[in-house]
Amino acid sequence: MAKIIWDDSYSVGITKIDQQHQQLIDIINRLEDEKRSGGVILSVISDLSHYVKEHFSYEESLMEQAGYADLQAHKQSHKEFSQWLDSVKIAYSSGYAESYDIAESVQNYLQDWLLKHIMVSDMAYSEQVINKSNPDA
Ligand SMILES: [Fe+2]
Repeated sequence: MAKIIWDDSYSVGITKIDQQHQQLIDIINRLEDEKRSGGVILSVISDLSHYVKEHFSYEESLMEQAGYADLQAHKQSHKEFSQWLDSVKIAYSSGYAESYDIAESVQNYLQDWLLKHIMVSDMAYSEQVINKSNPDA
């Protein structure tokens, strides 16, 4: 899979959120390296866990402050992502699947999520968050 390069079209217009999304891209790209070298994919998954915990709670707090109407639906999609991540960890510890295959499906999921979630759901809240609380100020 080709590495993802940050593009300004991914920007939601909020500096800290963009930086966190760039971290997600870095994690997806690290999976590519580890997969090729037979490296420690589990450590990437654990970094991803920490990343999303911090990122989702930051995003949710911005939406709460702005009184964003679709907050519950957005929270739900974060919850689904976290549940998916738990299922990945279980797949690893069960040892049923080859780590290369797991890394491959994790990459596909993340890339798809990056496009759909960031480009659609995150873009949807950004204008209201910027107008109401101006997080970059
Ligand atoms: Fe989000």
